[in-house]
Amino acid sequence: MITELRPGVFLLGIQDWHRRLFDELIPLPDGTSYNAYLIDGGEKTALVDTADPSRREEFLAVLAATGKKRLDYLVSHHAEQDHAGLIPDVLRRYPEIRVLTSDRGKTFLMDLLHLPAEKIQVVADGEKIPLGRFTLEFILAPWVHWPETMLTYLTEEKILFSCDLFGSHLATSGVAAEGWPEVYQAAKRYYAEIMMPFRPVIAGHLAKLATKQISLIAPSHGPVHYRPELILKAYHDWISPETKNEVLVIFVSMHGSVALMVQRLVDRLISSGITVRPFNLTATDPGQLAIALVDASTVVLATPTVLGGPHPVMMSAATLIRALRPKIKFLAVLSSFLWGGQAQESLENLLAPLKVKILPAVKVRGCPTAADLERVDQLAQLIAAEHAQAGLTQKT
Ligand code: FEO
Repeated sequence: MITELRPGVFLLGIQDWHRRLFDELIPLPDGTSYNAYLIDGGEKTALVDTADPSRREEFLAVLAATGKKRLDYLVSHHAEQDHAGLIPDVLRRYPEIRVLTSDRGKTFLMDLLHLPAEKIQVVADGEKIPLGRFTLEFILAPWVHWPETMLTYLTEEKILFSCDLFGSHLATSGVAAEGWPEVYQAAKRYYAEIMMPFRPVIAGHLAKLATKQISLIAPSHGPVHYRPELILKAYHDWISPETKNEVLVIFVSMHGSVALMVQRLVDRLISSGITVRPFNLTATDPGQLAIALVDASTVVLATPTVLGGPHPVMMSAATLIRALRPKIKFLAVLSSFLWGGQAQESLENLLAPLKVKILPAVKVRGCPTAADLERVDQLAQLIAAEHAQAGLTQKT
């Protein structure tokens, strides 16, 4: 799919409608796209990124369909293979092309794709390369999503080519066919799964981008943002330290003991005016859990004890939460055991790097008694009190 975004600026969009997993980890309910761009400045022509190697033939056909016999530059924003994986193919077809990338990007491209060093030209933050009627300006933006990542600003058209930043895993039949609510949801999922661990760094990038006028944001996944203010505002909201009056109750229950505690806690929290989002890990899309982690104030983990520790499914979820580094403020653990174990302690230790306030755990032997359930009530009251003290009283 070739779409002219502005005279001389083309989107080469490869839609991967049916892909359902990314990095062998992230569910893709809406597929994804790999967006490359072609910028014809009259004197020089630049290709911005490529596409996933799984779509080699389609990408090369689209590139050939542009009719360009010569390409001067290939801007490689990010060495991950879904954008850089076809650079060797492009180099074979356009031997005159020079790859422009960051200093670290050069190392990564040589390590991952074995590109010859002489084909790569390192560009610096703020460096400009003229194409004729257009100018490329490079913005180093480490950690969105790898440390080598950079962005490109097309000065005359005020277009920001943002690579993974502001992207979404959303295959579309048109550049902006979907309305904002659909794009917002997909972009939030993408942020939660990919960008959330880098919130402090993103704040710095947003401040830097605020110094530029941006008329269009062209990411490497998902629809182009013709109203950049919408996605910029969404990112400001997501990275802000503000959280909502929401509790995620993440649980697994083998024989019903944990489920009894979870049901009691959910009921009591709802009665306190708190929005509760329960996630049964045996039927949870990790992407949905990640989205919920963007705004929640409190996470409660509820697990039985298996071979001395948390249920393995809970360990997996807790490991994911630790990696995503959400801005939650409070954490509590519910656990059941029969003859011993350290389920609660294991989870609290695992999540210690989040530096959140850990509320007193509720640990029960076997099936919870009436007295045990009253301890669950007390935990619900404590969570409500902590939320109130933090100024979290709005119903979401
Ligand atoms: Fe879309 Fe980090 O690659």
